[in-house]
Amino acid sequence: MNSSLHDTPAAPRIEAMDVHKSYRAGARVVEVLHGASVEVRPGEKLAIVGASGSGKSTLLNVLSGLDRPSAGAIRIDGCDLYAMPPRERTAMRARRIGFVFQAYHLLPELTLFDNVYLPARVRWEGFGGGAGARKRAAELIERVGLAARATHRPDELSGGEQQRAAIARALMNEPDILFADEPTGNLDSASGGQVLDSLFALVEGGERTVVMVTHNPDIAARCDRVLTLRDGRIG
Ligand SMILES: Nc1ncnc2c1ncn2[C@@H]1O[C@H](COP(=O)(O)OP(=O)(O)OP(=O)(O)O)[C@@H](O)[C@H]1O
Ligand SMILES: [Mg+2]
Repeated sequence: MNSSLHDTPAAPRIEAMDVHKSYRAGARVVEVLHGASVEVRPGEKLAIVGASGSGKSTLLNVLSGLDRPSAGAIRIDGCDLYAMPPRERTAMRARRIGFVFQAYHLLPELTLFDNVYLPARVRWEGFGGGAGARKRAAELIERVGLAARATHRPDELSGGEQQRAAIARALMNEPDILFADEPTGNLDSASGGQVLDSLFALVEGGERTVVMVTHNPDIAARCDRVLTLRDGRIG
């Protein structure tokens, strides 16, 4: 439990207000989010659960600046994410937001090391240049237990190893907000447990805010708060 949550009435780090999202599929419009609202405090670890197809990935994409909502606003530290010019939003995302995708999305032609290192190419100043960034990438790879695999390409890694690599990559730029979409969804429970231990070890203690989508109640129970997405709203 994050005790600072109870001591300080800090302003929300993420604020989603009355968010709607619809997709057009041919002549049909599918409304996935129907006025979802949520606030996440700095340093909070929030789990979002809900049935398959309830819109969890859609919500995470909208909250993280990847996908514009049809209506409603997302604020990060009070700043309206989708009112920013696209270049500014992209730069903010690169600096402050890490995302662990449901299907990893590692680049197949790059080694594990280069995949983890890649985000730093848009954020040199934070590391004192390339040598600092290489050192951080190597440390993260070590911390997720993949030092012996650093020169391997993604197709030479197991599912759990790819998932851990995706977590290391998402944390490369020291984001203060980490989104993780079913970070153990494709794994058996033993390797899922290892991946989750890596993730929590890397975010524990700090002021990093985490929003995690999961089907698994045991994973949700490791977070500070659990919200359920149902009928396009957060209950
Ligand atoms: N690009 C799209 N075009 C049309 N419909 C979409 C699109 N993306 C998602 N949907 C629909 O939106 C709904 C929510 O999808 P989403 O991927 O957000 O669900 P989810 O809760 O993450 O599901 P899962 O637990 O299976 O990952 C689904 O009914 C899906 O078919
Ligand atoms: Mg999903």
